[in-house]
Formats: sequence, structure tokens, C-alpha cells
Amino acid sequence: MMGLSSHWLADAAAGLANDMSDASFWMPTQASDQASRVDSLFDFILWLSVFFFVVLMAATVRFAWKYRQKSPNQRTSPVKHNFKIEFLWSAVPTVLLVVIFAWGFNDFTALSATPSNALNLRVVAKQWAWTVSYPQLDRECTPTIDPVSGTQATTFYLPANQPFTVQLSSDDVLHSFWIPAFRVKKDAVPNRYTGFTVTPTVPGSYHLFCAEYCGTNHSRMEGTVEVLNAEDWAKFLSKEDERCKLDLKAPNYGEKLFAKYGCAGCHSVTEDRATVVGPGLYGLPGREESTSAGKVVADDDYLRESIVYASKKIVSGFEGKQMPSFEGRLSEQEIGALIDYIKGLDGHENDGGPTNDDKNE
Ligand code: CUA
Repeated sequence: MMGLSSHWLADAAAGLANDMSDASFWMPTQASDQASRVDSLFDFILWLSVFFFVVLMAATVRFAWKYRQKSPNQRTSPVKHNFKIEFLWSAVPTVLLVVIFAWGFNDFTALSATPSNALNLRVVAKQWAWTVSYPQLDRECTPTIDPVSGTQATTFYLPANQPFTVQLSSDDVLHSFWIPAFRVKKDAVPNRYTGFTVTPTVPGSYHLFCAEYCGTNHSRMEGTVEVLNAEDWAKFLSKEDERCKLDLKAPNYGEKLFAKYGCAGCHSVTEDRATVVGPGLYGLPGREESTSAGKVVADDDYLRESIVYASKKIVSGFEGKQMPSFEGRLSEQEIGALIDYIKGLDGHENDGGPTNDDKNE
């Protein structure tokens, strides 16, 4: 561990040196593939605003002087309308706004798509700390929350130059997961999933923050992301780090939970999709289902809702069946593990990790 830390310390120092060189007056260092895209758009909007501010203020001052009242008897001359000017001041801003929209939308779609080689992270917010787990690696970076303050900074690790996808959820209230050097920020919302995909590009040590006021210790809900080069990432994977332990519940945590909570008593998981009491679960993720609330696509949000509030959208043909409510009985990690298990039944879906299909925004 010590040898490893000193190595990371060197990387962190290099990261700090990068901070000095890449960071602009407005922005922290650019440490992800998104950073330069976000900064370019920011700069465009900033300088566009500066340009129009200067033009408009100069015109205001000039006209205020030129058309000032020169004697007490002076009357305002009648104001006629000017089609050319009115057309220009409508058309030019419209074009500029469309450009800004298209530019922003293009960058937003890049944040929302999940490449197949993405490393999946499940990030759970809870007053006042972050838990980061890697479903594909059976590893979890859990902060030891101080019982008095309820806080503890989280440290977790990522390989450089590999995209990672975050699936965010919250155990209590609204939080927001923010890594300024990556230019990514997303709300963690109770009872639903949100997320983004981004690729860290520069090894180093970066801050993460909670960016949504979430109670007394909001300002202390923070941590560190260590971006490692390939060599250090391999060491991290082979080494038992005290902050990011191999998850003792692994492997097959979801499968164990499925048995523990008696899900198998009502739901089959075999390819024949046999009906025991409730609908069979094989091949369910991604499929369109007819339910009591109309057609729905069985995405992660639908699966979580059906686990926690089973009676909200009942699959057609199962109307009389009552599944017990699991509201308040499962942790975010347990719900996530169950969903991963259901998604892994047919051997597809990225090793059963979370995906970022944030289609509600
Ligand atoms: Cu969590 Cu602010």
C-alpha cells in the first residue's frame, strides 16, 4: 500500500502541476474528453455576451448623450418604426441561440451515450457521503461515515483514457455529483436513476463535490477521484486497498438477494419464461411491456420501480397478483444488485452493470 501511495502521490503532484498549466482564469484543469468541449462552448457564450454588452452599452451611452434634452422646450420627435432594424434584432439573436442550442445538444448527447467498453460505476449519495462501487469488478469504495458529523470524504479510482459510466441514485434527498476537472455534474435523485459517461484523460488527483444543498454537512460531502495510468490501475485491481475493498458479498450478490428475499417464489428466471405466480424475468430488460399504466420499456427505472413499488405498473394479465412492497426494505446497493442480476440473466447487457440511458432528460 505504501509503495503504491507514494507513486500516486507523485501522480497527484504531476496533476497539481497540470492544474497550474491547463487551468484558465475561469476554469480548473481540463482532465476529461468533455472538458475542452464544455470550455469551448463556455468561451463562445462568454465572448458573445461580452461583445454584445460592449456594443449595447456604447450605443446606450452615445444615444443618451446625442439625444439628450438640449433645452427645456425641446419635444421628442415622433418615433417611426424601422422594419430592417426590427428584423435584424430578431433574426440575429435567433440564429445565435440556435447555434448555441445545437452545440450544447451535441455535447449533451456525447455525455449520454454509453460505449460498450465503459467501466460501470454505481454511485450512491447519502447524507453526507458518496459510496462508489464497480459492479463489473465486485469492488466497492465505501467511506466510513463518522457517526457525529455524518461525513467522510470518499476516494475512488479510475483508469485514464477509458470511458466510465456513472449510474447515480440517492438514499435520502437530492444531491449532485460534481467533478469540476471533468466538467460533469448530475443530480442524484431519490427513486430514480440518472447518469453520464465521460473519459478521464490525465492521470492525477481531482476533487469531487456535492453541488446541491442537502442539509447541515452538505459542504463536507466531498472526495477525491484518483485517475491512474494503466500500470497503477493494474496494481489497484490486484491490490486490496483499504478504501476500496473487494465486496465481500460478491460474487453473485444479486442472485443471493433474489433468493434471500424470496423473489424466486413468484418469478422464474429461466429462458422458457415460465409463469410461477408473477411474470418471468428472463429477457425482460429492454423489452416493451403492456402494463396497467400503458406501454412501458423495461429500463432500469422501470425495474427499480417494480421492485420498490410493485403495484404501480402491473404487467397485463397479472392484475390480481399482489407483490409485497419493498419500499424502505432494500438499500440502494441491494436494488442495484437485483437489477444487475435480472439484466444478466440472458448473458447480455455489459456484464450486468448499470447503463446510462438517461432518456428522461
Ligand atoms: Cu449532498 Cu449536498
